[in-house]
Amino acid sequence: MLRRVILFLSVIIGCFTAAGASWADIKLPEPKRAGGEGIFVLLERRASGTRGAFPRNAVADEELSAILWAATGRNRDGGGWTVPMAGGRPPYVKIYAVRPDGVFLYDWDEHSLVEISSKNVLSDISGDGFVRESPCVLIFVTDAKNLGSMSRANGNNALMYTASGAMSQNVYLAADSLGISTRYMISMNAGEVTRELRLEGDETPICIMPLGKR
Ligand SMILES: Cc1cc2nc3c(=O)[nH]c(=O)nc-3n(C[C@H](O)[C@H](O)[C@H](O)COP(=O)(O)O)c2cc1C
Repeated sequence: MLRRVILFLSVIIGCFTAAGASWADIKLPEPKRAGGEGIFVLLERRASGTRGAFPRNAVADEELSAILWAATGRNRDGGGWTVPMAGGRPPYVKIYAVRPDGVFLYDWDEHSLVEISSKNVLSDISGDGFVRESPCVLIFVTDAKNLGSMSRANGNNALMYTASGAMSQNVYLAADSLGISTRYMISMNAGEVTRELRLEGDETPICIMPLGKR
């Protein structure tokens, strides 16, 4: 009897793992693709949230969906990306979202958040109080192994930094359009980030962007 129970449980667990899904992954709502203020109004207004008065109100999944999509989502009916980089391969700049309910990796194909852990690590990843109190912090991580053959043209990691610059500016503009402040920051507790995001050899955290609704 015990053997049958063990066999049954292993089949269930096996199916779950094979599907590659975890119960705690979050399918994001469809991103907003229309409306909002014009691009030139947003560019004129573009500013970082200030360190002394960074807003702390919650960012809804609908809003996070639009911001992540702007940063590096699929557009043109799935035929392209808001910031192209990998020609369909896994991206060489990934975005993680750190929130009170856990650590998540943004999957640009599925437009979903893949749970890395359910721990609240906000106070571990930064020494800055306003970051620790932010409802959501995006962390940009370069993954050199996903450069593939392009690594030959990657003097001084130029391709990865070029992509993260475009992604972060898209985050600024989309966030502001939704009444959300952000701030591009290179200061972080890199060791803690590496540990809590479970990064491996080729993966390096390069910047963080806290988000807060005004
Ligand atoms: C490369 C770079 C790194 C930055 N790193 C930090 C940082 O670690 N901490 C911080 O508070 N601001 C940092 N900033 C500053 C803000 O992101 C912001 O750009 C600056 O305060 C100018 O404000 P503005 O975006 O409103 O023009 C950095 C800016 C740049 C360009």
